[in-house]
Amino acid sequence: MKVVARILVTEEIADGGLDRLRAAGHEVDVQLDLTQLFTHVVGAHALIIRSATQVTAELLDVATELMVVGRAGIGLDNVDVPAATRRGVMVVNAPQSNIVSAAEHTMALLLAQARNVPQAHAALKAGRWERTRWEGVELADKTLGIVGLGRIGKLVADRAKAFGMRLVAYDPFISVERARQMGVELVSLDQLVLEADFLTVHLPKTKETTGLIGRDLLLKAKPSLRVINVARGGIVDEQALADAIRDGVIAGAAIDVFATEPTTESPLFGLDSVVVTPHLGASTREAQDKAGETIADMVQLALAGDFVPFAVNVDAAEANETLRPYLPLAERLGRLFSSLVGRSPSVLEICTEGDIAGYDTRIVALAALKGFFGAISEEPVTYVNAPQQAKDRGVEVRETSSATAADFVNVLTIRGGGRSISGAMVGRRGEQRIIEIDDHHFDVPPADHMLMVKNDDRPGVIGLVGTLLGDAGVNIADMDVGRADEPGTAVMLIAPTDVVPEAVIEALRRAPGIISVDALVG
Ligand code: NAD
Ligand code: MLT
Repeated sequence: MKVVARILVTEEIADGGLDRLRAAGHEVDVQLDLTQLFTHVVGAHALIIRSATQVTAELLDVATELMVVGRAGIGLDNVDVPAATRRGVMVVNAPQSNIVSAAEHTMALLLAQARNVPQAHAALKAGRWERTRWEGVELADKTLGIVGLGRIGKLVADRAKAFGMRLVAYDPFISVERARQMGVELVSLDQLVLEADFLTVHLPKTKETTGLIGRDLLLKAKPSLRVINVARGGIVDEQALADAIRDGVIAGAAIDVFATEPTTESPLFGLDSVVVTPHLGASTREAQDKAGETIADMVQLALAGDFVPFAVNVDAAEANETLRPYLPLAERLGRLFSSLVGRSPSVLEICTEGDIAGYDTRIVALAALKGFFGAISEEPVTYVNAPQQAKDRGVEVRETSSATAADFVNVLTIRGGGRSISGAMVGRRGEQRIIEIDDHHFDVPPADHMLMVKNDDRPGVIGLVGTLLGDAGVNIADMDVGRADEPGTAVMLIAPTDVVPEAVIEALRRAPGIISVDALVG
């Protein structure tokens, strides 16, 4: 589905990604003046940012059309993700785009700090040949303490190993086994600071990590310790770090990120044994190209209502090639079921049967909820806020699965309030079929409007239905007729080509031999 949207871009993003969005027909509105953010965001369907744009709950209140926030990079500390989730706004990032650049920048700072490269460079350019003053230290056989052994922490470990460094790490969320595979020994933070000659930070900035590397911890360090931070400003307390270096408690630091950015003032800037860069970790052509392209792809998928692999506030695993074709079917069944049941049932069961049950099918259940609540909600319902919609309406969602499916490879069923609908995909082209409603078996492709008619099982009733619809100018595209469980009762599922006017449905309900008519909207 091609959706033409207004995409607001508030920070420098590589052209490749933006061109892709323009080529898809979207209006790309680049507005870098962040003082006007609240004005520019009005009417935007997507917002693409880096680390400087603060996406607060207040901004989201103003951005009533917003469907997706795309963070061209990793850190999400500038985005109020819970507030976005409440509003149904998807938040996506580009988690792999700049990890190599950030790890390489860490190594650049590690070496620059160890060998005083910037200081010696500046002195020589200023006309001073200072060979003795800028003596450094080797990395080989030194201990590197990695705080946060995630994506970037691991890449730094790989690179530091090549320099002959001994590696220890603090990360309570990584198993000892996984760390061992990386050649890293897991230790407590206190132990890491006691042992480390270099300490490098690769944590997300959260309430727990802000100020984690502070005065008390630094007082436990060896005087030879050098601290590197290419993660987020504020995880290392800048004033405590500056005090520790000035007082000789530790040897130095190399810092890429600051508590307030942009900044030209920090207690660290006046110290000779400190190397600084202005948040350059991801500033390579490769990282920016990758971040721009990834975020453009993610934003396009989000605008089209498709599954977005790098969405951070969608409660599901990635949709693989097996599950992906079932998402439109699940959404369609959700919509049809909402008109079949006609209200929010107290329990909504979403059942997957067959091969797909072997996968993490949360995304299929989300698609069914998106369809169901999207059909009855005033607000746009997305993969993000569909579970919240269920909670708000007091609907308990139950996901069940079974490895076997009778007659079909895979079957999706939605049940609740005493009603049910099942669908499957058939044939080489994977065509959708409604295969069961309320235990009546059918074989009809789903349509935007459908009628399920229960009638006396006697000659002439099917003709009567056809005549009533025909007289109203309604053509029948597909239809299946079967016997209902009750003796003497038949049931038909009709997919008309158009909406059946309410008056015609009423006439059908009153017609002789007709027991009930359900009008479904898909
Ligand atoms: P990641 O999520 O892959 O890894 C973070 C690690 O920190 C995880 O292993 C996690 O278990 C650990 N962790 C989380 N909370 C912790 C805590 N309280 N104590 C100890 N460990 C904890 O993240 P990543 O992709 O490696 O990114 C790391 C940081 O680098 C992020 O802050 C990101 O924003 C930043 N970053 C900066 C730049 C730059 O330009 N300077 C570029 C890219 C990423
Ligand atoms: C990130 O978190 O991805 C980096 O800090 C780079 C950026 O801000 O763009």
